Amino acid sequence: MKVYLRGFSEADLANVYDLACRTLSERYDPGIFTSISSSWPEGSLVVESPHGIKAFLLGAMTSPVQSRVLMLAVSPDLQRKGVGTMLMNRFMEVSSRSGTRVVTLEVRKHNRAALNFYQNWASAAST
Ligand SMILES: CC(C)(COP(=O)(O)OP(=O)(O)OC[C@H]1O[C@@H](n2cnc3c(N)ncnc32)[C@H](O)[C@@H]1OP(=O)(O)O)[C@@H](O)C(=O)NCCC(=O)NCCS
Repeated sequence: MKVYLRGFSEADLANVYDLACRTLSERYDPGIFTSISSSWPEGSLVVESPHGIKAFLLGAMTSPVQSRVLMLAVSPDLQRKGVGTMLMNRFMEVSSRSGTRVVTLEVRKHNRAALNFYQNWASAAST
């Protein structure tokens, strides 16, 4: 399936919210998505396919030199195809361009898939 990565826009809100509800264990107020993306638009990314939004990453600048991944999700039908990696790589580029020297994130310890994903991503990025 052909996908492309672009910035989040207000028109994506309903689809991103729906994907978040289907993939993340936490429940968020829809307003939080708009408020995160408007505070640092470059740090909010979506992956779109001909069938709609398939993945997103929302991040924030938490200091002039630090950014944070707040939410990352890939639709189950597109997992293990490199989409999460693509989003993290782009987020690092965007963060670096914004002057970030440290990127933080939080993962629940029972979320083995995400732990494995971030560990593998970090070790590949540092080689
Ligand atoms: C975690 C998540 C974002 C990974 O996205 P993805 O697009 O599937 O990841 P990638 O295809 O880029 O995977 C890269 C590597 O990460 C590891 N990985 C990814 N998903 C994994 C899983 N379910 N189990 C074990 N390792 C996994 C693998 O090493 C994988 O490489 P491989 O497929 O060649 O073995 C996705 O599983 C997801 O959206 N999960 C639900 C939401 C979530 O938990 N978000 C994170 C909250 S902190």
